[in-house]
Amino acid sequence: MLLEVKNLKTSFNTSRGKVRSVNDVSFSLREGEILGLVGESGCGKSVTSLSIMGLVPKPEGIIEGGKILLEGIDLLKLSEKEMCKIRGNKISMIYQEPMTALNPVFTIEEQIGETIKIHEKLKGRVVRERVIKLLDLVQIPNPEKSLKKYPYELSGGMRQRVVIAMALACNPKILIADEPTTALDVTIQAEIIDLLKDISKKLRTSIIFITHDLDVIAEIADRVAVMYGGKIVEETDVNNFFDNSLHPYSKGLMLSRTDNINKGERLFSILGMVPSPYNMPAGCPFNPRCEKSKDICSVKVPELFGRIEGHKVRCWLYAENEG
Ligand SMILES: Nc1ncnc2c1ncn2[C@@H]1O[C@H](COP(=O)(O)OP(=O)(O)O)[C@@H](O)[C@H]1O
Ligand SMILES: [Mg+2]
Repeated sequence: MLLEVKNLKTSFNTSRGKVRSVNDVSFSLREGEILGLVGESGCGKSVTSLSIMGLVPKPEGIIEGGKILLEGIDLLKLSEKEMCKIRGNKISMIYQEPMTALNPVFTIEEQIGETIKIHEKLKGRVVRERVIKLLDLVQIPNPEKSLKKYPYELSGGMRQRVVIAMALACNPKILIADEPTTALDVTIQAEIIDLLKDISKKLRTSIIFITHDLDVIAEIADRVAVMYGGKIVEETDVNNFFDNSLHPYSKGLMLSRTDNINKGERLFSILGMVPSPYNMPAGCPFNPRCEKSKDICSVKVPELFGRIEGHKVRCWLYAENEG
C-alpha cells in the first residue's frame, strides 16, 4: 500500500479549550488511485490533509495519535528536516485558491523553476526545459510565451494549472488536492478535473481529492470516503457509493445534490448543522440530525462496520449483521 493513515487524531489547543478536529481517521491509498474525501465544511478534511503533509499549524495543532505510513515509513516519526524532503518530492498539495501558492512578483518560469531548483540541483537551460515540459503537461497553451507571464496575467483556471505544475515539479507519488476547483466556474472546474484524471493516468500519481461536492466526486474519484464530525463514516468504491450508499448522512448528501432539483424534486437538505468540535454530541456525531437514530446512537460511537467486502459504514443500523 502506498499510503496508510491509521487512527489519526489531530487536536487544537484554543482559548476555549482543546478540540479534536480529526478523530480516529483511517484510510489507505493505492498507487494510481484517486480517493475522494467528501463532507460538509468543518468536518475535518483540511486538517486531515495538513496532518499528512506535516503542516498542522504549530504550536496550537497537535497530532495526538495514529500513524501515517508512506510506503511503510511513519511520517509522524520523521524530523522536520526529513519531512521537508517528503513534501514536494513524495507528497504535494494544492489548495482552493491558487494565489495562496503563487507569488505575485515572480513570473511563472521563476516560480516553477524555484521549486525545481530547491529539490534538484539543476541550473539554467535544463530548468527552463523542465518548466516548459511541466507547462505542457498541465496543458497551458504556448508554454514558451506563458513562461514570462506573472500570475495576475493569467485566468483563475490557468493559475490553478500553474499550481498543479509546481506541485508535480518533482514527480510526487501523491497529490493532495484540497477543494482545488471550488473557486472556479463550472466549465473551468470540469477542465481541471479532466486534467488531474489525465495526469493520474499518465504518471500513476495517486490523488486525494477533497471536496464538498458529490458531482465532482462522481467525475473524478475511484473510491470515496465520507467524513463527518472528524470521522470517516462511510468508505466504498465510487460506483457502489452512488448506487448503494448506506450511511444516513451519505444518503442525505445524495438527496441534496442539484441533480435532484433538475428532476423536479424538492431540494432535500439535511436538517440541522454540522456539529462544532467544541460541542460534539455523545455517540454517533450524526445522531442529532439522523432520522433513523436509535437509543444506542446517542450513547456509543459506532465502529466502521464492513459487512460487504470493500464497503465500510460507521452506523449502528448496520451492526446486526456483524459476525
Ligand atoms: N488552527 C485551528 N485552530 C482551531 N481549530 C481549527 C483550526 N483549524 C481547523 N480547526 C477546526 O477543525 C475543524 C475541522 O476543520 P477543517 O479540517 O478545516 O474542515 P473542512 O476542511 O472539512 O471544512 C473545524 O471545526 C475547524 O474550526
Ligand atoms: Mg477545508
